[in-house]
This record gives sequence, structure tokens and C-alpha cells, in this order.
Amino acid sequence: MRILPALLLALLLSGTALAAGETVRLPEPDRIGGMPLMQALAERRSIRNFSTEAPDEVTLGGLLWAAWGENRRDGRRTAPSALNRQALKLYVGKADGIWLYDAHDHALVRVSDIPPGKPLDDAPVVLIFAVPEGDPCGGMHVGSVYQNVGLFCASAGLANVVKASTTRDQGMFPFLPEGWKAQATQSVGRPR
Ligand SMILES: Cc1cc2nc3c(=O)[nH]c(=O)nc-3n(C[C@H](O)[C@H](O)[C@H](O)COP(=O)(O)O)c2cc1C
Repeated sequence: MRILPALLLALLLSGTALAAGETVRLPEPDRIGGMPLMQALAERRSIRNFSTEAPDEVTLGGLLWAAWGENRRDGRRTAPSALNRQALKLYVGKADGIWLYDAHDHALVRVSDIPPGKPLDDAPVVLIFAVPEGDPCGGMHVGSVYQNVGLFCASAGLANVVKASTTRDQGMFPFLPEGWKAQATQSVGRPR
């Protein structure tokens, strides 16, 4: 038996199953540091081979804030959105399950105990971008956010690749609310 399923089984049997809705606050992002923007643009690229080592919490917090965090007191975000409706949900798949990024509290809220399966398991962190079905601006919003991630990764020395092929089978995303679909995913980790 692989270690993770064995751990989940042990937790279930001990009556301490991981709770859906469990919330984990992320470390505050460093809003000043990082590589100069022009250098990050020069470094941005797709890298498809990842180390199994997961990015630490500080790095993950910075990544999610750069992606789709609140950057102003009025709740507006690091990426623009049509009419500021912010119609994009950012999910994070990790070995311990699937989490929804709560930008207001800069926290992760668990939506599933089950880690992402194939083909989403190529990296220790997989971002899942969900938008309302039929939203004509959905693809634009996803593109803004994955570019933020790509630039953060360039600055932080992380590997990443955007994939749309991973969303052909919407059955991979049973945690999405009714009326939402996964538009693309982005695998992130340390380069191997
Ligand atoms: C909307 C979109 C969908 C993509 N889908 C996939 C995919 O399904 N599989 C894959 O390996 N790469 C995918 N890519 C990555 C592209 O192949 C990659 O960005 C391209 O080769 C250019 O390389 P660069 O990112 O290093 O500039 C996708 C990129 C975008 C923007």
C-alpha cells in the first residue's frame, strides 16, 4: 500500500478524518521582494520536469497571492476581472488533497481529502483554474492568473507548465460547484 492511502485510512479508522472545510492560513506574502519584472519576463518559460519535493508554505503563500491575491484594501486582486466580479476560483491540488484559495483571508480551505490523480499528479502542486460555464471572459481571467503564476515561478526559481488538455475530462473535478468548469491547470514545483 502506498504511504498516502495508508495514512488516510489510518486517520479514518482513528476517527480523526481530515475535515472538509478545514482552513489553513498562509504566511503573509513578501510584497516587495523578488526578481526585477523585466528579468522575470526574460526568465518565464514552461518547464515540465518536477522534483517530488513540495514548495514550502512561504513559497506557496507567495505564489497564491501573486496569482490571485488581494492587493488592495477594497478586496481587488493581483489580476483584473470583468466588472471586478472576480469570477474565477483557484484550487490547489497537493498530496494532502484539494484546497480552495480564499484570497480575503489568504488561506486554503479544504474541499477534498483526495489528492489529484493522473494526469494531474506530475508536480507536487497543481493549480486548477475554474470559471463559470459560458462566461465569455473566463479564458481571459484564467490567462491573467496563470501569467502571474508564471512570472512568480520565474522569480522564485520554480518550474511550471500550463495545461488545457487536463480539463478535457471534467469528471476529474467533482469538487467544483454546479455551473463551474475547470478551464486549465498549472503544474508547479521545484525543477528536477
Ligand atoms: C492555454 C494553454 C494550454 C496549454 N496546454 C498544454 C497542454 O495541454 N500540455 C502541455 O504539455 N503544455 C501545454 N501548454 C504549454 C505550451 O505548450 C507552452 O506554453 C508552449 O510550448 C511555449 O513554451 P513556453 O511556455 O516555455 O514559452 C499550454 C499553454 C497554454 C497557454
